[in-house]
Parts: sequence; structure tokens; C-alpha cells
Amino acid sequence: MKIKQLIAALLFLIISSTSIVKAAPDEGMWLPMFIKRLNAEDIAKQGCKLTPDEIYSVNNNSLKDAIVWLRFCTGEIISDNGLMLTNHHCAYGAIQSHTTEQNNYLDNGFWAKSFKEELPIAGQTASILVRMEDVTAKVLKDVKPETTQAERNKLTAEASRALQKEFAENGRYEVIVRDMFNGNEYYMFIYETFKDIRLVGAPPQSIGKFGGDTDNWMWPRHTGDFSLFRIYADKDGKPAEYSPDNVPYKPRHFLPISLKGYKEGDYAMILGFPGRTNRYATSPAMRLIMEKNNPTLVKLFGKKLETWKKDMNSDLAIRIKLSSKYASLANSWKYYIGQNEGLKKLNVIEERQKEESAFLAWANAKPEYKEKYAGIFDEYNKAIKGYENIVVQSLYLNFAGRSSDAMRMIMTLSPLMAEVNKKPVDALALDKAFKSVNEAAKDFYKDYSTRADKNVMREMLLMYINDIPASQLPPVILDITKGKGKTNEEKVINYVENVFAKSFLVDEARFNAFATKPDKKKFDKDPLVILNNGLTEYQTKNFSAAQVAFNSKTDELKRVFMEGYMLFKGNTPLYPDANSTLRMTYGTIMSYGPRDAVHFDHFTTSAGILEKYQPGDSEFDVPARLIELLQKKDFGRYGQNGELVVAFLSNNDITGGNSGSPVINAKGELIGCAFDGNWEAMTGDLVFDPKLKRTISVDIRYVLFIMDKYANAQNLIQEMKIVE
Ligand code: ARG
Repeated sequence: MKIKQLIAALLFLIISSTSIVKAAPDEGMWLPMFIKRLNAEDIAKQGCKLTPDEIYSVNNNSLKDAIVWLRFCTGEIISDNGLMLTNHHCAYGAIQSHTTEQNNYLDNGFWAKSFKEELPIAGQTASILVRMEDVTAKVLKDVKPETTQAERNKLTAEASRALQKEFAENGRYEVIVRDMFNGNEYYMFIYETFKDIRLVGAPPQSIGKFGGDTDNWMWPRHTGDFSLFRIYADKDGKPAEYSPDNVPYKPRHFLPISLKGYKEGDYAMILGFPGRTNRYATSPAMRLIMEKNNPTLVKLFGKKLETWKKDMNSDLAIRIKLSSKYASLANSWKYYIGQNEGLKKLNVIEERQKEESAFLAWANAKPEYKEKYAGIFDEYNKAIKGYENIVVQSLYLNFAGRSSDAMRMIMTLSPLMAEVNKKPVDALALDKAFKSVNEAAKDFYKDYSTRADKNVMREMLLMYINDIPASQLPPVILDITKGKGKTNEEKVINYVENVFAKSFLVDEARFNAFATKPDKKKFDKDPLVILNNGLTEYQTKNFSAAQVAFNSKTDELKRVFMEGYMLFKGNTPLYPDANSTLRMTYGTIMSYGPRDAVHFDHFTTSAGILEKYQPGDSEFDVPARLIELLQKKDFGRYGQNGELVVAFLSNNDITGGNSGSPVINAKGELIGCAFDGNWEAMTGDLVFDPKLKRTISVDIRYVLFIMDKYANAQNLIQEMKIVE
């Protein structure tokens, strides 16, 4: 090849591969404090009528004041009385916690007719961002170029703690410092965190979870995935623990609701709290996920789900106990399946490698860059070599070895065991430890089924022994194969029978009897404690050092790569990976083509509910009353041209944690509530594919239709500000 051709080819490679990652207008989870600088022109061009200050402002009321961080999800305030909309799947645990066979809110729905009827949700908080600030210089002030990664982690943690103390104003605010761009930058987030949150309304799960796990992560969708919470504050509007004297919170801003709908191409934006993405992952990291983590997790989770399901199907009490745990595990299980399918189908790793070649070509052209950045991918591969053979083993140890949920109570007990055995006894601390174990136990055993746990433990242990070579089994597990019985199956059955006959952890009454008179000898002799200790010992001896070394090395490599990558991208604005901080994503209402010759509309209607409807099916049945309303087309003011829109698509860039986020139109009005992503873009946490990636939201008109026409919750509709 002639030199000119070579240069041309190289140039082509660089241009074509960088264009793959060039931020499309729809890609990006932007920090709201930078909208003015990075996105203002772009959002105006796409049709947004709001100024950046109307979206995020520290001194004036802005959209951000209506956005609520629920830790695992997002919510938005939609009334002057702190009424909050989020997803049904975000409220699922709260609904489940109040569900009994007599008051079956999961199956029948729940609607408070007055403030008095609203149900407190134990442990639920709601945080509203006051402001955010770049604190990079403060956090990195003692870090030198030669500082090791371990030392760096210590220094940044210390500096973050100091900032938390400085800005918390004696507990008035919650202050969280987060790293951005893999530890190259640091930001401080100051929140007001409310602690009295109540359940206000939820549709029956046949509506809120319509389509179940079959439809989950997929389009077209007909799920009424919404529920309502309310934030309560003390008389001064400040956060307070639950009290009957608390009053509905008066927000600085709440979202008005638009019944006007939208058409394809209309502006749409989402503000919310995306949890985790890994958009700058290196190809070796992706390969590790694809080859080791994902298939292992799919297998382990799949077995647990299959076993749980059998017991849930045969017993209503067990179904109620396990439904929330089941739903969240099933959601992750399908996520890993979809991500791996996409990784293979879309050649994600190959595409990333092309980009890495361009990065290397750039780095190699300058001695200073070459020294810093050219060896990164080789080093990454080397770090993985020493680590990958323990990935599968340690996942099995944790999910198959520790498959019994009752083992969680061992950790819960450990502070109490420590206090009991302290000499002299600290009476105050001991009392506190007793109380906290009591509370945790009530919480835990409410959702614990001995029968289901026993079945799970048997199936998972058997899988552990069958899948992992004997030479890699911890001695406590290997011992089981030396026990009573002819086959491994018989031996596991006998072992598990014995555990459940003897352990005080697998039964609430036995646990309580132990926890009133905790005894060290009895504790140490418990078969689940013995199993747990054996697993921990093996883990410490065989995995811990490798795990720490791998994390520390890859933390460093990721940070240095990101530093180089930002230089490589020059003036292209980059957004940091999601990390449960407030982000804005903007784009338009948009359909897509999932594969050759197939087109998916950008919205679904109630006709699709009637099409999918299957009486008696656990995923596709709906209440007769809904069928009647839909058949009569009794949509009230929520229909349009004889149709009722149920869900819709936009090309916004979201991930888990964004669930429940508001979809907002060009005027700042609420048009929907985001609840999922689509199957064809399950690789979205690693790479944004503009052709395929969509956000799935429930249309606000369907939400209001269910509340108003189906549930007769006019008391709540009246609180809202509705724009017709
Ligand atoms: N896939 C959704 C998410 O992770 C959760 C959907 C819950 N619905 C369900 N059928 N499990 O955001």
C-alpha cells in the first residue's frame, strides 16, 4: 500500500469510527447546571420554548423543583399539595407492604379518598435537589500525579466527607458528592430529603403491570405503569419523620398536565435520576460482561425465579410475600438476557474496538500521550486475565451458596451478638441493638416463606454442585457431597432438610425466641451460620485479594482512559455516565424500525389492550370494568378521535433509575411518565444507538383516564392543573 493510501485509510478509519460515538442530539444525560452552556441552542432548535433558567435555576423556581429522587426511581410533583406521580413498578414494594389477603391492594388497587386514608410507606424518602456545584478542585486538592489509586480513593473520600459536613447545615440538608467522568471530576449535590411519604393511589396490578414479564423491556406496550405518592412535611414545610401532624408539602414548582397530546417529531424532554451507565467502557470490560457476568447471572436468577414461581402459583399468601422480590429479580434477569443478545447482534464490541484503534492512533502520534494512554487496553486485558476465572465462581458462591434468603438475618444479628458478648455490657447500646433487630425481623419475616426458601436452597445448591468443578467448590459445599444419600440430589435434599429442621433463622417464631435471648454457642452451631462462615472464609482466601486488585487497577485505567478520551474528543461536549444524579435528556417523539421491513408506531392505543386481553391469564387479564369502558369507548375528555392513547415512544436517553420520570413537552407540561426501554436497544447502558434506542412512557391521558373513569379518584384529579 502506498503511503498516501495508508494515510487516507487511516483518516477514514478515524472519521468513520468517531462518528459512531459523536453525540447525537438525542444522546446524552446532561447535568442541568450546564444546559445553558452546552445545550441551550440545541434545545431551542428542537422546539423547546423554555429558557435554561426555567429548567434549572438555583435562585428561582424551575422545573427541577418538581423532580423527586426516590433512590431507585424518580417521581414528579403534580399538585400544590405535594402529590407525586411515579411508576407502578416503583411503588410496587410500597403497595406490597400494605397488601394482605384481606386487603389485596396489589390485585385490586388502592385509592385514598382523603388525606387521612393515605398510607405511610416505611423507609421511603423523597429528595429534592436544592443545588449542585463543581467541587473537583476541593476534592482533588491533595492528589498528586504520583498518588496511587488506593491513596487517591482515601483522599477523595475524606475530602467528600468534609464537604458533607460543611454544607449539611446540621442535618437540614443531605449532601452527596459524586465523581464524574470516572473520577476526573467531582460534583456536590445538596438535597432536601423528606421522610414522610405516603401511598395515595395505585391501579390493580393487572393494569399497572399489564403484560407482565412477557411484555417487560418491549414495545409495543399497553401498561398503565403509574402510581401516586404524596410528600408530607412538618408545619414549616421542612422534612420530618412520619407524624400524624405532618401536612402535605408545598412545592416550589409542580408540573401542569397537558391533555393535548403530541405528534411524531414534537419536542420531548425528561428530567430524572438515571442510576448507572457504562458508556465509556473499554472493549475488554464489555467482553468480560458478555462472556462471564451476564450468562452466569441469567442462569442463577432464572433458577431462583422458576423455583419461586411454582410456590407463588400454588399459594396466594406466598405470592403476596414474594411478588416484589420476584418482580425485581425477573426484571434484572431479562435485562441481562437482552443485553447479551444485543451485544452479539449489534457487534458492539467490534464497533468499540474500531473506536479504540482510532484513539490509539491519536495517542501514538504524540510522545506525551503515547506514554500515558497507548498501553491502556493491553493493561486492561492483563488485569482481566488474573481475574476472569474467579468471576463465575464468586457469582455462584454468592447467589447459589447464599441462596437462602434467611442468611441475610445473620448480618442483621451481628451487631446484637457483639453487644451481648461485650464485657462489661453497655446497657444502652444493647437495648438499641435489641430494638433494631426486632424491627428488621418484623420487616423481613413479613415477606419470608419458609417453604419457598427451602425449595430455592435445594435447587440452587444442586446447581452449584453440578455446574462448578469439585476442585473449585468451597469445603463447606464439598462436604455436602460427602453426606447421606446415593446421588448428589439425595445428598442435597438431606442436607437442606437438616438445615430447615435445625436453623433458628428459617422461621419467625424460632428467630424471635433466639433474638430475645441471644446465645453465642447456639448462634455458632446454627447450620446456616456454619455455611455462611465457610463461604466467607473461602471467599476471603481465594477471591478477595484478586477482587481488590482488579477494582483498584481498573478504577485507575478507567480514569486515565477517560482523561485521554476527553482530550481525544476535543470540543465535542461529553456527558458523564449516569450515577443517580439529576440529568436532563431531550429529543423528540419518535417511532422506530426494529428490523428489516418492520415499522413500530410511536404510540399504542386501548385497542391493543383488547387485542392482548386474555381472561384468566396472570399477565394479560384486566378487570371487567376496564374492558367495558374500553369497549364502549367511554374515554371522557382523555380520548382523541375515538382513540385512547396508552403508551408512546421518544428518543430520550434514559436508564434504570429514570423509571417514573416525567416526559415534558416544549412548554414544560407533563405528557407522560417514563417506565421502560425497548428490547432492540438493551445494550443502551453501554452504547447509545440513535436508530434503535427509545424511551417507553405511559401517556398522561391514560393515567388520568384510569384515575377518573376507572377508579373514580376525582379527588386527586381536582388537585392537578390540567391544560386542555
Ligand atoms: N423494565 C423496567 C425497568 O427496569 C421495569 C418494568 C417493570 N415491569 C415488569 N413487568 N416487571 O425500568
